[in-house]
Amino acid sequence: MATSLVAGPQTGVWKELASHAARLQGVPTREIVAADAKRFERFSAEGAGLLLDYTRQRVDERVMEQLSALADAVALKDRIAAMWRGDAINSTEGRAVLHVALRQPRGAAVGGADIEKVVLEERARMLSFAEGVRNGTIKGSSGKAFTLVVNIGIGGSDLGPAMAVEALQEFTAGGPACAFISNVDGCRLADVLAAADPHTTLFIVASKTFTTLETLTNARTARAWLAGKLGEQAVRDHFAAVSVNHQAMNAFGVHPDYRFQMWDWVGGRYSMWSSIGVSLAIAIGRENFEAFLRGGHEMDEHFRSTPWRQNLPALMGLLGVWNINFLKLPTLAILPYDDRMRRFPAYLQQLEMESNGKSVMANGAPALSETAAVIWGEPGNNAQHSFFQLLHQGTPRAALDFLLPARSSCRNQAQHDLAIANCLAQAEAFMAGNPPEAVREELGKQKLSPERLELLVPHKVHQGDRPATLVVFRELDPVTLGRLVALYEHKVFVQSVVWGINAFDQWGVELGKKLAEQLAPAVRDPSGAQVGSAGVMRLLKKIDEWRRSP
Ligand code: F6P
Repeated sequence: MATSLVAGPQTGVWKELASHAARLQGVPTREIVAADAKRFERFSAEGAGLLLDYTRQRVDERVMEQLSALADAVALKDRIAAMWRGDAINSTEGRAVLHVALRQPRGAAVGGADIEKVVLEERARMLSFAEGVRNGTIKGSSGKAFTLVVNIGIGGSDLGPAMAVEALQEFTAGGPACAFISNVDGCRLADVLAAADPHTTLFIVASKTFTTLETLTNARTARAWLAGKLGEQAVRDHFAAVSVNHQAMNAFGVHPDYRFQMWDWVGGRYSMWSSIGVSLAIAIGRENFEAFLRGGHEMDEHFRSTPWRQNLPALMGLLGVWNINFLKLPTLAILPYDDRMRRFPAYLQQLEMESNGKSVMANGAPALSETAAVIWGEPGNNAQHSFFQLLHQGTPRAALDFLLPARSSCRNQAQHDLAIANCLAQAEAFMAGNPPEAVREELGKQKLSPERLELLVPHKVHQGDRPATLVVFRELDPVTLGRLVALYEHKVFVQSVVWGINAFDQWGVELGKKLAEQLAPAVRDPSGAQVGSAGVMRLLKKIDEWRRSP
């Protein structure tokens, strides 16, 4: 980002928004909502098959006008064009950011004709491999079809496909089972291997860099297991890989036909559309994977061409800015009312927090405002029975995203209708609350003494004013999941533009990685080792004592 670009806090609109936040302070959301009979018509938008209902946000028409003005003031349109042109908007790494090129159809030339060509070629290779694994024409070393695909990766090389395979379980019939291994402790891998048949297991090592400690450690363990069971020569038939690092894939012994390409212009957390999604493609098949890409592309076109007040990613991003910077809500809870979306909050944690968890702007100057919210969440009804108490009545307050399909993901509409009722009820309750007068009226119907009644009132009051957006869609199918993922990707980009930060690097993850590398030998053998602080050495000694104790 060039230094001449303006960040939101440097604009006059920012001050206007602050004055609107002050104006609305103390006005209950239920009053803002009640004052506008046409609120749903004006505070909802539909695009690319998704409905965004932001009627329960703490905004009125004047705030929305200013949020659109903010998008203009930071030249959001130009920044979108710069991304699509392939400008090096990831300035600290000098890279273009072209995940939008990964989901383009033939002839779209996103990123230019050369990029379109390599993307489509690699997509075709990957999909034909995926189909071969799926239909059993690509087999293991003993001539048997694969029944289990084990993706070994972490972060962006795990979360997207893992989330999507679970979300799209209804579309996986006929394919092998998929397992996802990420953590370095090796326990999940051990569990998966314990139940796996080596003859019918395919491993996919997904790592853009092919240097990631967790992934390589798990991959080596898996390789040793396979070679131990079937012999070294079987490795070539049982390992595929996705990376930019061909040298490392050579060293690992990945067969050239089983290698898939990544590019520097795709960030890990934006990569599930590429061959990093091969496990997903195997799970759901070519047509469904293509539908997923189509959904992403539909959202891209919507984002590029729609005025801000109907533009779903822009609305989401701007409302997030309003909540974080003006209403001072530092967290966003992601609440899917569909159990199959249970990994969606985890997926968004990396997408949003690794992208926008920054405190300097792209030009190196300190950020002028708070940046990314803390993202967390859990499928709806589970959340209701665990942390909703705090959300309704606790002192920390959060903004909320509800995700709601109209149709059941497992053909049990009767039960899903209960999920719908719960979702809508909770969104209303968070918005309107339950004021003291209403609580008194309810309690008045019980035969309570006046003292008892007054004692209970404060405990039963819900303040409301917890702002929520509902993202509603027909059903959780591949095209819709593509739209949803792209919606959040662009939302993150919108916010990065407003805050003037680079959403596409992640230097913050390096320090801990480096320290862990230095510490690893001392952990193995703390006797005489002198790395880390005195406190760390004391801990290591204690850990070692417990490790050795019978
Ligand atoms: O967590 C840091 C990170 O670099 C992520 O950005 C990335 O998705 C993940 O590690 C995995 O990286 P790789 O695909 O190179 O193994």
